[in-house]
Amino acid sequence: MPLNAELDSLSDYPFEALRALLGPVTPRVNDEVIAMSVGEPQHQPPALLAETLAAHAHEWNKYPPMAGTPDLRQAIVDWLTWRYGLASGALDPERHVAALAGTKEGLYLFSTVVVPREKAGRKPVVLVPNPYYLVYNGAATMAGAHPVFLDATRDNQFLPDLDAIPRGTLERCALFYLCSPSNPQGTIASLDYLKKAVQLAREYDFVLAADECYAEIYDAAPPPGALEACQALGGGFDNVVVFHSLSKRSSAAGLRSGFVAGDPRLIGQFKRLRDFGGCQLPLPIQAASAALWRDEAHVIENRALYRRKFDLAEAAFAGRYGFYRPAGGFFLWLDVGDGEQACLRLWRDAAIRVLPGGYTARAANAGVNPGREYIRLAIVHDEATLDAAFARISRVL
Ligand SMILES: Cc1ncc(COP(=O)(O)O)c(C=O)c1O
Repeated sequence: MPLNAELDSLSDYPFEALRALLGPVTPRVNDEVIAMSVGEPQHQPPALLAETLAAHAHEWNKYPPMAGTPDLRQAIVDWLTWRYGLASGALDPERHVAALAGTKEGLYLFSTVVVPREKAGRKPVVLVPNPYYLVYNGAATMAGAHPVFLDATRDNQFLPDLDAIPRGTLERCALFYLCSPSNPQGTIASLDYLKKAVQLAREYDFVLAADECYAEIYDAAPPPGALEACQALGGGFDNVVVFHSLSKRSSAAGLRSGFVAGDPRLIGQFKRLRDFGGCQLPLPIQAASAALWRDEAHVIENRALYRRKFDLAEAAFAGRYGFYRPAGGFFLWLDVGDGEQACLRLWRDAAIRVLPGGYTARAANAGVNPGREYIRLAIVHDEATLDAAFARISRVL
């Protein structure tokens, strides 16, 4: 049966690779397993979520609007305007915003809208930071583009070096997925960096898709956003969209709720596509999402809990494994020399699952995988569990 062969080139689903690595190995210790491989929030979302769902329980029978209810879109616009200091009225809930059933599906489907058959007479390019969130790579490949991996290493402060992208690549570029705060390194792109990325997108006429899912989990200062960079530059929101999620902000990964906002031409086309193949958010979930975007108290509390986890990590690891305190997100990106070996040892000798850094990156440039020396740890557990995990890691590595 002839199938889409591009799927076969996406053989690097990180959790499958991790299962293959650890499957044959049984931990030698009786300690309880601690899974630090998956970036799944362990805090509970605020009671507001369940209360709002219950108050809207009579709406499960209705087909919901694909782009989001007017109330949800207004809540999103109000939040974006407040959070990024945008001019009042700069965002119109009708034109600039669309609800998503989690950002994962939106990030993926979006490439279908913005990747043309060819650009500059050749197969288009999608720029993907390396290491990356796996969806960028999948979205690029399945949209028929050539993913170009931009290494984000210690040498470039864990952000793709915008000055190093060859002109020919920029001319072929249709889409650039930029992640800030980044998964896995927790780097925050500065406003100047974002402005430069927006300028490149406009100069070479590609789309900058800023994945800002971790924007509300930060240590010292709130990460700037790509819409803020647009405002600083002028020129409306041309060529730029941002993706946001309630999964990390509100510890509501199971709600499957996010949004995309930005350039109204792109949002308009995306809404058209979504009428054919998007996922709607049920009305009770849209109501709960609006309530969560309107409430900051739980976000402040959540952030404080993560800061405390990073205090514990710093106390345990400062001065070892290249430890640095990430500016945002909830991952540790530790330099352990050989990520796969460290992962195997942690599983066998400490019953701890982590992700080898190389599983979320590609050996694209000079054949070197920029994640190979690292492990990624999701710092999402309660403090007692983290204390136990850090002690076991220190013992084994
Ligand atoms: C960088 C990044 N973007 C997007 C997502 C998707 O989040 P969701 O689909 O839950 O909104 C994740 C989830 O882990 C992520 O790490």
